[in-house]
Amino acid sequence: MRIALPLMLAALFAAGLVSTATGQAPAAPASPAAPALPSAADKALIARGEALFDQHCAGCHAPAIEGAPTRADLSTFDPQFITETLKTGEMQPMAKDFSDADIAAVTKFLLSY
Ligand code: HEC
Repeated sequence: MRIALPLMLAALFAAGLVSTATGQAPAAPASPAAPALPSAADKALIARGEALFDQHCAGCHAPAIEGAPTRADLSTFDPQFITETLKTGEMQPMAKDFSDADIAAVTKFLLSY
């Protein structure tokens, strides 16, 4: 799963190059919905979030224990909801040692794929 997005972006990029090479006007990008490539700072945040998730969350969410959202489910959640769940909601005990930056990192990781 983790390689799917980069591969897709590469495919979109290649498609754009091909259409330019065939002489078509370099019009709109192939897919306006394609997310921007993550910056270096984003990648660092995602990597930190992944490490935290592996240590504190994966045991129940990847694969998910009964009743818990799966890793794929979590990627579709609203970032605000994830943040609140970790700060004051049901998952607060699992994230009790997390700083705000840790919570931001885990949230970013969860939404990264
Ligand atoms: C001990 C097992 C366990 C651990 C560890 C755990 N979770 Fe959960 N998590 C659950 C279960 C079970 C639910 C479903 C709770 C419910 O729906 O009542 C859940 C629900 C959630 C939800 C949705 C909350 C809601 O109200 O629907 C989020 C977001 C979440 N977990 C994120 C995390 C993150 C991030 C971590 C790591 C910091 C984590 N969880 C650690 C078991 C766990």
